[in-house]
Amino acid sequence: AVERTLSIIKPDATRRNLTGKVNAKFEDAGLRIVAQKRVQLTKAQAEGFYAVHAARPFFGSLVDFMISGPVVVQVLEGEGAVLKNRDVMGATNPANAAEGTIRKEFAESIEANSVHGSDSAENAAIEIAYFFAQTEIVG
Ligand code: CMP
Repeated sequence: AVERTLSIIKPDATRRNLTGKVNAKFEDAGLRIVAQKRVQLTKAQAEGFYAVHAARPFFGSLVDFMISGPVVVQVLEGEGAVLKNRDVMGATNPANAAEGTIRKEFAESIEANSVHGSDSAENAAIEIAYFFAQTEIVG
């Protein structure tokens, strides 16, 4: 089925001017960028977005990283988009990421791992609504 998923190009990637190269990976995989904006997250926005990780030891560092520079939030659309995007991103830890994936090619560390992608269709709907009004998504 055609799905939508929420993607974030993280500050380590925007800092290194890799937005276009990351987007090319998505488009080459057949994902369509149907919404996109570059934003500086506030601390409250980053904490809210990653609330499920609030109890993790890396939470504070993750929030600080996510507000260390601009991010690009996006909605990707395509057949099986949630899983397809996870394949294109590669494993969370770049040390474990497969050849050709975004994280293998671009990520600096398990934290500065260049991209975020929703982990399920259910969370995708929640995460898309966190950043986008329906009118901003143009399929
Ligand atoms: P993301 O897919 O955005 O989801 C949670 C983020 O926490 C993850 O990518 C990493 O950026 C960050 N993170 C930092 N340390 C860890 C860790 N040990 N395990 C998982 N995620 C981590």
